[in-house]
Amino acid sequence: MLLLGGLSLWLVSTAAAQSVPSPYLQTPAPRQLAWHQLEYYAFVHFGPNTFTDEEWGRSQSSPDVFNPTALDTDQWAKGFADAGMAGMILTAKHHDGMALWDTNTTTYKIGNGQWAKDRLAAGLSADMVRMAAASAEKYGIKFGIYLSPWDIHRDPAMPKPGLSGTIYDEPQIFGDNTEGDYNDLYAGQLTELVTLKYDNGSKVPLFELWLDGASGSDTVQTFDWAKFRDIIRENQPDAAMWGHQGVDARWVGNEDGFTVPTNWHTISRTQDQTHYGGDELQTGVRDGLYWTPAEADARIRDGWFWHASEQPKSADELMQMYMECVGRSVNLLLDVPPDTSGQIATEDLEILLQFKEQRVAFLNRPLLTTALEVSASSVRGGDSARFGPANVLDGRTDTYWAMNDKETTGSLDIRLKSIQSIDAIILQEHIALGQRIGGYAVDAGVNGSYQRIVNGTSMGYKRIWNLTSSIEADSIRLQILQSNATPLISSVQALGITEVK
Ligand SMILES: *[C@@H]1O[C@H](CO)[C@@H](O)[C@H](O)[C@H]1NC(C)=O
Ligand SMILES: *[C@@H]1O[C@H](CO)[C@@H](O)[C@H](O)[C@H]1NC(C)=O
Ligand SMILES: *[C@@H]1O[C@H](CO)[C@@H](O)[C@H](O)[C@H]1NC(C)=O
Ligand SMILES: *[C@@H]1O[C@H](CO)[C@@H](O)[C@H](O)[C@H]1NC(C)=O
Ligand SMILES: *[C@@H]1O[C@H](CO)[C@@H](O)[C@H](O)[C@H]1NC(C)=O
Repeated sequence: MLLLGGLSLWLVSTAAAQSVPSPYLQTPAPRQLAWHQLEYYAFVHFGPNTFTDEEWGRSQSSPDVFNPTALDTDQWAKGFADAGMAGMILTAKHHDGMALWDTNTTTYKIGNGQWAKDRLAAGLSADMVRMAAASAEKYGIKFGIYLSPWDIHRDPAMPKPGLSGTIYDEPQIFGDNTEGDYNDLYAGQLTELVTLKYDNGSKVPLFELWLDGASGSDTVQTFDWAKFRDIIRENQPDAAMWGHQGVDARWVGNEDGFTVPTNWHTISRTQDQTHYGGDELQTGVRDGLYWTPAEADARIRDGWFWHASEQPKSADELMQMYMECVGRSVNLLLDVPPDTSGQIATEDLEILLQFKEQRVAFLNRPLLTTALEVSASSVRGGDSARFGPANVLDGRTDTYWAMNDKETTGSLDIRLKSIQSIDAIILQEHIALGQRIGGYAVDAGVNGSYQRIVNGTSMGYKRIWNLTSSIEADSIRLQILQSNATPLISSVQALGITEVK
């Protein structure tokens, strides 16, 4: 007993000597940390454009145009869940300005169209946003909302001859220096959406609010981003606010599902400042002032809205997007638009499933397990229990390998049980305490002789490296070559084939 007591006392005092590393510069808010882990989710562009074969809703049709013949939001949510997508973001209002929910802020809403009137008369819901939210909940995926700041319906520069003299002929308040304030209208719409309720009266939790940056006219409207942020924070504190450059997540600078290998989670400008160019948004800014990681919005078809003339991309193309977004620490927001029936086309769902099969077939071949022997050039305070290199193999995101504060380079070595054929490497930095690493390499060893198979700059949340050819190895060595503060590694994995040798 005495010995045991003494031993535990010794352990406690040793542990107390090694504090957790201090955060380095910017760190993700809890909502952002949770957001990083979603990785891949669906974008749903649906609205009048679906029926007018448009992308930007210039025709300004009456709400009667919104007429899905067999609407089924469960079909969307089930399809996305089956495809391994973590959530969906619906266009509650696209640039055309027509609201898909039962808003009190405008007459220009699907609720005033014949489809909605017929549904209500039949005792059915006609609120697209609430229906989609309920379906997402039913199938266990997250729900987010797109609310376009640019609003053609309120933009004096955009003609609306078909609506003149109707109840949809509303004040043209878009653009600064006009009467009335578009920011108030937008704030009202946002408030309705962040307080949206399920049928049972409890609030719909949103994981992301997508506040688009596009504008197709010269009308200048200065948006009150701080006000919009406060409305989101107050009502949906766990939701990430996506904007061209923030607050919580940024545009990746293109709509092709691609980013460059060097991509930092931080930038140094806000939504109110001059916008970065596409290349700058891809790269981000090392040691920037704000944690504003990139999200890549991309499309399964050519358009954002469904068009009869278009076909889905192949599963191979989606897999390439995945490797060039998720594989480079960027979330992938893939648009999969419902057609005029109000359902996702079966060929699109088939591609999503093929893409999922490819991901599973590729990723589900881990060679590194907790049973393997792993050593490091050094361990923080010698405390292997808390900061040892075995933490990179335990499958947990809250544990990591760490060295002492002054050490910014070092390596860890994982010994395989035998020679294996390796064709991909996955690395994760412990970003909860900031993004630190600026140079790293992975070497594959046989009999103590090493060959470089990966070298990179920024690491961040997750890096997936597909090797151009497989390599036989009996050990894997990760080298941190450059870091602005002592590096923290939460995961190292190698994919490949277990060989009996
Ligand atoms: C619109 O106003 C009515 C009546 O005040 C209210 O019951 C309803 O909840 C409001 N709708 C929204 C989306 O806020
Ligand atoms: C209402 O429904 C939602 C979604 O099904 C559920 O998460 C929530 O717990 C329910 N709230 C109440 C008060 O029953
Ligand atoms: C590794 O070393 C063992 C024993 O020395 C030897 O049999 C084997 O051929 C070596 N393998 C390679 C790939 O060099
Ligand atoms: C990778 O290694 C090559 C060869 O040593 C070097 O030229 C290159 O700069 C390295 N790239 C990175 C991103 O470190
Ligand atoms: C990985 O690279 C190999 C060889 O270039 C290629 O055949 C394979 O399709 C790639 N896999 C992924 C998931 O990118």
